[in-house]
Amino acid sequence: MFDLSPYNTFGLHVHAKEGVIISNVADLKRVQFDRAIILGRGSDVLFTDDFDGTVIINEIKSLSVEPQGDGKVIIRAGAGLILDELIASLVEKGIYGLENLSLIPGTVGASPIQNVGAYGVEIGDVIKEVVAYDLQRHIQETFTKEQCEFAYRSSYFKTHRSRPLIITQVVFELSKDFKPKLVYKGLSEKTFANAQELRDQIISMRQHKLPDPAKVGNAGSFFKNPIVPHDFALKLKEQYQDMPIYPSEIEGQSKLAAGYLIEKAKCKGITHGNVGTWEQQALVIVNRGNAFPHEVVALAKYIMSEVYNKFGILLEPEVRTFGATGEVSWNNL
Ligand code: FAD
Ligand code: EPU
Repeated sequence: MFDLSPYNTFGLHVHAKEGVIISNVADLKRVQFDRAIILGRGSDVLFTDDFDGTVIINEIKSLSVEPQGDGKVIIRAGAGLILDELIASLVEKGIYGLENLSLIPGTVGASPIQNVGAYGVEIGDVIKEVVAYDLQRHIQETFTKEQCEFAYRSSYFKTHRSRPLIITQVVFELSKDFKPKLVYKGLSEKTFANAQELRDQIISMRQHKLPDPAKVGNAGSFFKNPIVPHDFALKLKEQYQDMPIYPSEIEGQSKLAAGYLIEKAKCKGITHGNVGTWEQQALVIVNRGNAFPHEVVALAKYIMSEVYNKFGILLEPEVRTFGATGEVSWNNL
């Protein structure tokens, strides 16, 4: 049995039948794709049961930095590098573009899957290519930015789950010029002399709002922010005048803040058994100590039904859920 406690930031006591650590692409040639799942650091997953298969742990840590003549820099980052460690080292080297994503937990390889985003930047904005290994055909494939089909918390890799693709390398196009992106509400009124100052500000905002998984088990936002028809959003706003509405990349649709809806549905800071929602950010389900997987599932369902009853909006989990035989759709839980 392979202990998954260090590989799920919820801190649930779960196991896999087998664990294989891969440190280069050649290691993947020996992996059978049947009943195998790949993990980075497990900061966006919920195991509802012990997994009766092989967990591949990504430790591919290659890195190349290629300055271009025009002030751009191409970074080829191994998928097993820790994203925040990469960002820290790039800021130190004077290479910019990723600083708004500081302190997002997990690996470089997982970051394109749900197109991680925070504080006005999504990782797809600065990705040039993604290299993935097809475990069924045993070949590497390069996906251009367009082929990655990045969208809010989505990408080709998330919408084509039946393809056993393991991301091995992410290629970023970054810059030697520091042009801060300050569209996020809490950043727009500030000025930053350099990227380290911006990174420090992002880290401080995150530490204020989000629980540190090393101390309190969690997987970040449990739910995605819902996308609803713009007219519906405006109608709700007549009733809830302080409700934030954000533009969506989908025409005629708007994005709402799930944290706001959960708070208004009286589910912020609650405790059910060993689980609860974070006092500073209702979107985060936390392990209050020795939680069981079924408690996380039950609380998530409770929140979904409370929000649905109040607003007629069905929240969709962002966290990926795995059971004994592989990924489980939320409808089957
Ligand atoms: P894992 O959780 O191990 O894997 C996530 C999914 O990707 C799984 O389905 C897994 O099978 C798949 N996967 C992992 N690696 C690969 C690979 N190499 N190839 C193919 N598939 C792979 N996310 C945001 O977008 N913005 C945030 O601000 C943010 N804040 C967070 C804060 C906290 C405190 C926590 C705990 C999480 C937060 N997250 C956030 C979610 C999480 O950090 C990201 O989803 C991250 O990319 C997950 O990385 P990981 O290496 O831990 O992936
Ligand atoms: N809000 C509340 N109550 C809450 C939480 C939020 O009313 O308990 C309101 C806030 O007041 C604010 C709005 O909701 O007006 C948005 O809040 P915030 O800026 O904190 O961001 P979010 O939409 O809740 C998203 C991402 C985070 C990311 C932040 C910062 C999703 C699902 N979540 O949260 O990503 O860090 O923006 O950009 O899109 C993650 O994906 O795991 C994650 C943490």
